[in-house]
Parts: sequence; structure tokens; C-alpha cells
Amino acid sequence: MNNTNTYNYTVVRQFALMTVVWGIVGMLVGVLIAAQLRWPGLNFDIPWLSYGRLRPLHTNAVIFAFGGSALFAASYYVVQRTCHVRLFAGRLAAFTFWGWQAVIVLAAVTLPLGITSGKEYAELEWPIDILITVVWVSYAIVFFGTIAKRKTPHIYVANWFFGAYILTIALLHLINSAEVPVTFWKSYSAYAGVQDAMVQWWYGHNAVGFFLTAGFLGMMYYFIPKQAERPVYSYRLSVVHFWALIFTYMWAGPHHLHYTALPDWAQSIGMVFSLILLAPSWGGMINGMMTLSGAWHKLRDDPILKFLIVSLSFYGMSTFEGPMMSIKTVNALSHYTDWTIGHVHSGALGWVGLVTMGSIYYLIPRLWGRKEMYSVPLINMHFWMATIGIVLYIAAMWIAGVMQGLMWRAVSADGTLTYTFVEGVKATSPFYTIRLLGGLLYLSGMFVMAYNVWRTVAGQQAVDAPIPAVAAAHA
Ligand code: HEM
Ligand code: HEM
Repeated sequence: MNNTNTYNYTVVRQFALMTVVWGIVGMLVGVLIAAQLRWPGLNFDIPWLSYGRLRPLHTNAVIFAFGGSALFAASYYVVQRTCHVRLFAGRLAAFTFWGWQAVIVLAAVTLPLGITSGKEYAELEWPIDILITVVWVSYAIVFFGTIAKRKTPHIYVANWFFGAYILTIALLHLINSAEVPVTFWKSYSAYAGVQDAMVQWWYGHNAVGFFLTAGFLGMMYYFIPKQAERPVYSYRLSVVHFWALIFTYMWAGPHHLHYTALPDWAQSIGMVFSLILLAPSWGGMINGMMTLSGAWHKLRDDPILKFLIVSLSFYGMSTFEGPMMSIKTVNALSHYTDWTIGHVHSGALGWVGLVTMGSIYYLIPRLWGRKEMYSVPLINMHFWMATIGIVLYIAAMWIAGVMQGLMWRAVSADGTLTYTFVEGVKATSPFYTIRLLGGLLYLSGMFVMAYNVWRTVAGQQAVDAPIPAVAAAHA
């Protein structure tokens, strides 16, 4: 079949496979650092195995390599299918794949070597920042180029979310990574002091809002209706959801800087906007969940739908918890504790992880022209391993976090601290063991997925789907 009559699945297939590969790598590092927190000797006194270097390797690998590959795959697939055209600028799309993989490999080499700009989630040094910029601009050209040449009259809502994520990440990256290079592998931020902190957390929070949320909401709006074979519950709500979410996220960053040198009024703005953020977040969650109305029975025997819907319940949980943690008096207890880590992973493992897995299971057979995944029971098994893993992880962190917060602030009658810091560390230790078990289970689920994917795609050649001749509703 002629190339122009089919969708460009090559690049989607590549990103989909790398999602699984980088998921395993990133989570393996997560398990290693979880074990190091329990047994610090596991760094073997080797600098590049030290916790401080492996932690950013974990965050970069899971967010940008695993999450990023999933977002590229999903957005490239969805934009073609909903616009009824082949991806714009095929070669540029291929470049985004190889360019993004190069960024990941460079991160995997430089971070363990201790080469870092020291800004959380933006650690990569300036030459890599430039490569990211080039890849991201290419991504925007491919994505918006495809939208521009669409054959459908309107732009399906999933593409709104993907579009907002692509544009906003470009803006965040350019502004937060403004830096002054001093050598090839060392630069200093263009900002200083509290301004640096504010720019950093404007970036950090919107990385959560647009990378870890808006992009994945794009997935939700396509894959849930598809898998449930139902239209989105409310198209009108999805438009309100979109504008309310992107407007509100922008202002919430200061909740990361409570009780710091940031002016108090700025902290309060961050808190108020975080509280408001509950509404659009839950509006979106409800829109996704209610898409199943009248089809709830499908949840019983469709494990892909289980992944997608349970991801939404974790999304709802973490977007309830986040606004609560942004209240200054609550943050006084939660900040610096493992409660934050529990919150992060209920969003990361529960929302980002599960919605990605559900979407990839949806995609794999279609991308290779197979009827279904090699084994549906294995998808089910993965679902339960992941879900139990998350519960162990986040429950352990919540208990540990609240306990740490209370121990640190406990004061005896004579005005001295009741507990030494190390007593808090000791008390936390059993919870680190439980977290490690949860993480191991979650990671093992990824191996089950890798096996299932491998058996599905191996053997016969992949087949690209034809583009319908006449534009109909979203395909
Ligand atoms: C097997 C699964 C995983 C395990 C065992 C794991 C473990 C860990 C550990 C031990 C930390 C450091 C906590 C600390 O410093 O006290 C961490 C941090 C982090 N992880 Fe994971 N992780 C896993 C999966 C993921 C995934 C899939 C994501 C994102 C999609 C993620 C995102 C993060 C982030 C953003 C942080 C930094 C949190 C902060 O600075 O507050 N993790 N992880
Ligand atoms: C309405 C939505 C949300 C709000 C208002 C919110 C609020 C917060 C607050 C108050 C903190 C603690 C800041 C601190 O004490 O340092 C935090 C940390 C964090 N949240 Fe959320 N959260 C939300 C949703 C999410 C979701 C869905 C995810 C993940 C997918 C997520 C990922 C993170 C990460 C990675 C951090 C740790 C940042 C760091 O210190 O490195 N959040 N969030």
C-alpha cells in the first residue's frame, strides 16, 4: 500500500516500545534508590551509584523517558487518527524519536557522573537543554502541522490537551533553563536567590500540570471512550475542563515554597489557586469516569479498561490530596516528609503509570495489525500487581510522612525536642521496607507487560492501518 494512504505508525511503534523499555529502566533505578534508603551501604562507596546521583536519574527516566515516550506515542497516534491524515513531516517525526532517545541516553550518562545544573526536574546541562529545545520545536511542527492539514472539521478535545502540553513545556523549558555556561558541562542559572526559586517552582509545578497531567488527560480523552466504546460523557464539560485547568495551574507553583523567603502574599496566591485547582481536576476525572455510564459491566472483564478507570481514581485522589497539602498549616506538617513522596507516587504510579499502561495495551495490537494482545490474563495479572504495589507504596509513605512530621515537631515540657532526628529515621525504616516491596511488585508488573508485548509483536510483520477515504467522526 502506498505510504500516503496509511497512517504513520512507525514512529508510534518506536515510542510505544521504548515506553516499556524506559519504564523498566526508570523503575529499576527507583527500586534501587528505595533499597538504598533502607540499606545505605548499597551505594558500595561508588560515586556514580550514590543516592544523590541516582535520584535525579530515576526522576528523569520515569518522567521524561517513560512518560515522555508514552506521550509522544499517544499524541502521534491520536492526532493522526482524529484528523484523518498521515503525520505531517515524517522525517522530522523520525528525528524527534532519535533526538529524544539521544537526550535520554545523555541524561543516563551525565547524571550518574554528577553533571547537573542542580534544578529539580531540569538537571540536564546546557548542551542537552539545547538538544531538547530542537527536538521539542520539531515535535510542535509535526503535531501542529498534522492538525493544520486535518480532514475533519473540528479538533478533537484530546488534541487540545496535547497541544497545550507541547506549547507549555516549550515555554517552561526555555524560561527555566535560561543559564550562563561556564564550561561545556557546567552552567549557572540566569536567576538568583528567591527569583530563581520562584521560576524553578513555576516550572516544577507546571511540569506536573502539563507534562504529568495535561498530556495524560489527552490520553484519557481518547483511549477511555475508545476502549469503552462510548462517546465522552460531556463534550461541553471537556472544554470547560480544558480552559479552567490550564488557567489555574499556572498560578499554583508557590505552594512548593511555603515558609520560605518568597513573599507571603505570593505563597497565599499559590495556596488559593491550588485549592481552586480541585474543581477542574475533579471535573476532568468525572468526565472520564462517567464516560463509562451504562457500560460499567465492561470493567468486570476488560483489564485495559480497569487500568484506565483506576488511573482516574488515583488522579482524583492525588488532586484532592495536593490542594490539601497546599494549605499552609498542612504543609507545615507534610513538607520535607515522606508524605510528599506518597503524594508524588499516588500521582505518578497511580495516574501516570496506569493510564500509560492501559493506553499502551490498547495501542500495541493495533499498531502491529494484531487482533489483540498475546495474553489478556497477563494484562489482568499486571493490573493487580501494579495496583497492590501502589497501595503498599503510598500507604507506607503516608504513615511514615505523618509520623515524621509529628516526631519532628514534638516538644517536651522543658522546651527541648522530644526526638532526635535519627530516632525519626529509625522509626521510618520499616516503612521503607514496605515501600520497597510495593515498588518491586510494580516493577515486576512491567516485566509481565514486556513479555506480553514481546509475544504480541514478534513474528509477523507490522501492518499500518489505512486512512479512511472520506472523513467521518473521529476514528
Ligand atoms: C517501581 C516504581 C518506583 C519506585 C520504587 C520509586 C521510588 C522512588 C524513590 C525511593 C524516590 C526518592 C524518595 C525520596 O527522596 O525520599 C522517588 C522519587 C520520585 N519518583 Fe519514584 N519510584 C517509582 C516509580 C516512579 C514513577 C513511575 C514516577 C513518575 C511517572 C516516579 C516519579 C518520582 C518523582 C517525581 C520523584 C521525586 C519526588 C520529590 O522530589 O518529591 N517514580 N521514587
Ligand atoms: C490539584 C492538583 C495538585 C495540587 C494542588 C498539588 C499540590 C502539591 C503540593 C502542595 C505539594 C507539596 C509541596 C511541598 O511541600 O514541597 C506537591 C508536591 C508534588 N506533587 Fe502535587 N499536587 C497536585 C497534583 C499532582 C499530581 C497529579 C502529580 C503527579 C502526577 C503531582 C506531583 C507532585 C510532585 C512530583 C511533587 C513533588 C515536587 C518536589 O518537591 O520535588 N501532583 N503537590
